[in-house]
Amino acid sequence: MADYVLAIDQGTTSSRAIVFDHSGRIVSTGQLEHDQIFPKAGWVEHNAEQIWSNVREVVGLALTRGNLAHTDLAAIGITNQRETAVVWDKNTGKPVYNAIVWQDTRTQAIVDELGGSEGADKYKSIVGLPLATYFSGPKVKWILDNVEGAREAAEKGDLLFGNTDTWVLWNMTGGPDGGVHVTDVTNASRTMLMDLDTLSWREDIAADMGIPLSMLPEIRSSSEVYGQGRPRGLVPGVPIAGILGDQQAATFGQACFETGTAKNTYGTGNFMLLNTGTEKVPSKNGLLTTVCYKIGDAPQVYALEGSIAVTGSLIQWLRDNLGMFEDAPDVEWLARKVEDNGGAYFVPAFSGLFAPYWRPDARGALVGLTRYVNRNHIARAALEAVAFQTREVVDAMRKDSGVDLTELKVDGGMVQNELLMQFQADQLGVDVVRPKVAETTALGAAYAAGIAVGFWKGEEDVTANWAEDKRWSPAMAEDERERLYRSWKKAVTKTFDWVDADVQ
Ligand SMILES: Nc1ncnc2c1ncn2[C@@H]1O[C@H](COP(=O)(O)OP(=O)(O)OP(=O)(O)O)[C@@H](O)[C@H]1O
Ligand SMILES: [Mg+2]
Repeated sequence: MADYVLAIDQGTTSSRAIVFDHSGRIVSTGQLEHDQIFPKAGWVEHNAEQIWSNVREVVGLALTRGNLAHTDLAAIGITNQRETAVVWDKNTGKPVYNAIVWQDTRTQAIVDELGGSEGADKYKSIVGLPLATYFSGPKVKWILDNVEGAREAAEKGDLLFGNTDTWVLWNMTGGPDGGVHVTDVTNASRTMLMDLDTLSWREDIAADMGIPLSMLPEIRSSSEVYGQGRPRGLVPGVPIAGILGDQQAATFGQACFETGTAKNTYGTGNFMLLNTGTEKVPSKNGLLTTVCYKIGDAPQVYALEGSIAVTGSLIQWLRDNLGMFEDAPDVEWLARKVEDNGGAYFVPAFSGLFAPYWRPDARGALVGLTRYVNRNHIARAALEAVAFQTREVVDAMRKDSGVDLTELKVDGGMVQNELLMQFQADQLGVDVVRPKVAETTALGAAYAAGIAVGFWKGEEDVTANWAEDKRWSPAMAEDERERLYRSWKKAVTKTFDWVDADVQ
């Protein structure tokens, strides 16, 4: 009897496999980190073959630890780091270059050139996104322009492109031997190549970027059977039936199905999504318009998104680059040694600033320093930066949508940090709520797959399974709250205009 659904979460720092039961509870997990490759300032790469090997290993781990066989699985869902681009040869299955990660800024010149006199908003009314290094399309152009032989091979029809959902799906379903080359609407909406109304590739934009249409995966809904596990793989014959980009998956797993509901995920970066229903809401305040999900033949649901590039990765940076502590959770212990930030503000514009500024010329800054400031203040400033950036996104959401949040559902690795959660509630002035299953990304992908095969009836099952774990309520005085935020805003302005043609 197939009593379980498996989700594969191919993330930025690790790949996870999680088995869920019918009540949405975790049965077993496997997780492996992959290498973060930084060849130059601003460049971030992953080895796509290592990712695929890790995915196989974590699936094996999760099944073994749960004492399960593939026959116990009703379906498999995939969720993934979204804009990370893989280009590979369909005959050999070999990537022609490392995966270029969403945080990578090498395509700035390409992006500027594409925008030309029309600037960053050239394609925004069609794809919902400003031209930025963040998205996959310009990364594919970079690979075709810079990898020897790539453009000729692409034009011959030998190369395939995908975000990592597509790379994992193609390999799972057979690779060179009949692999299915498909993506879902949410991932496609992050390429800059998909028309948000028709949910199909835009030939004109692909032509502008010099990307042959033959490289692009077929766009399908987020919840339907795409294919089955290949015969001699770990999960032979199991339907792979759900794909959602990681942030959309978390929105799904948090049961944000009503128009006006939102979630915020605190991982490598922070990503807040507000469900805007079947209406596509254009942003005037630095947010993205994106597809939230599409269940089978039902109409697509849209979202407004506030993407913040650096939050959890700032904690990793304190750990790895400054050696301030051993494990990410230790940052809380340091920050608790002081009462406040001591006047220090840390704006982590490591990849420029994403929402709501979209300033590629910004770089990180630690300001307000005096002899008084010590490492504990810096730890605190790093955590506060996460909450301030979130408040800026919430403000933009209010302006774009007219929706006033009454509470914020949160998830991701950083929501274990109680100091941050309290400070977040203080800064937002509304309750912050953490669900029992914090692995909402994997959970959302599991639900999308399970719904497609009838394991779950539909969104109502997701809502019924959602349960609150903990809630933080605002406790800070209004004048203090505003004073801190005002200083933060000032700190942000200090990061602008740093990058010059000869200064990265
Ligand atoms: N207690 C904590 N306090 C502060 N930061 C934390 C804490 N625990 C984890 N983190 C940070 O959270 C991030 C991990 O969260 P999570 O596992 O949700 O990331 P992720 O973005 O999903 O990873 P991936 O990109 O691989 O999907 C790391 O960047 C880590 O530095
Ligand atoms: Mg994640």
